[in-house]
Amino acid sequence: MKKFIIANWKCNPTTQKKAKQLFLSVKKGLKNKKNVEVVICPPFCYLAVINNNLSFIKLGAQNCFFEDKGAYTGEVSCEMLKSLKCKYVIIGHSERRKIFGETDKIINKKIKKALKFGLEPIFCIGETLEEKQQSNTFKVLEKEIKKGLEKVSKKEIKKIIVAYEPIWAIGSNHPCEEDQAMTVALFIRKLISRLYNKQIAKKIRILYGGSTNSQNAFNYLRNSEIQGLLVGGASLKAKEFIKIIKTLG
Ligand code: PGA
Repeated sequence: MKKFIIANWKCNPTTQKKAKQLFLSVKKGLKNKKNVEVVICPPFCYLAVINNNLSFIKLGAQNCFFEDKGAYTGEVSCEMLKSLKCKYVIIGHSERRKIFGETDKIINKKIKKALKFGLEPIFCIGETLEEKQQSNTFKVLEKEIKKGLEKVSKKEIKKIIVAYEPIWAIGSNHPCEEDQAMTVALFIRKLISRLYNKQIAKKIRILYGGSTNSQNAFNYLRNSEIQGLLVGGASLKAKEFIKIIKTLG
């Protein structure tokens, strides 16, 4: 199965010029490879700057809105993203859940809307450190998955990528142990099998994210349960991001 290396630039870099430079440096350092899908998710305002130069690199957004259009100041719709050549959209990132109060219900609405417009949601789930210490990881993930995927059909689920991002591992320099990431991936597959069926569970794409870099990337990527990485901090340095992709050969 193809592996995914997805850059989540978050609220970076600080200017359009720097965004273009970063993108072009990444592009220059890479060749198209059949075994890997490289995706860049910049802030909304840089999507149009980058989309003229895409080639084999795919574009994703970091968020979307759940209504089609209208009086929703500051929001960006899925159709707008589609028209800017986005193929993917990150939904339910823990920073959006925590800082912007996004609930499972909101996330579910966004997932359904993204699917309706032909975007592939990168659906983020993950537990806090406290939840992990209280041995509630699976309980939290099960709730997030069940609620986030409510009324998502068998046909639609195939378009979804699940990204396991333990909150304590994000930007902390404490990546999740490879074993735990694998155990969680297996857990997600079992749950998807229960909610949908075995074939769908086998095929669903599961990523890991949280303090990944060129040193630890391959620990996750060599695992057949994990189809790729959602990379934050390390995706802002072109050389480092390219190195991560090159660990796949
Ligand atoms: P990080 O972020 O790689 O900087 O830990 C990952 C993410 O939040 O998607």
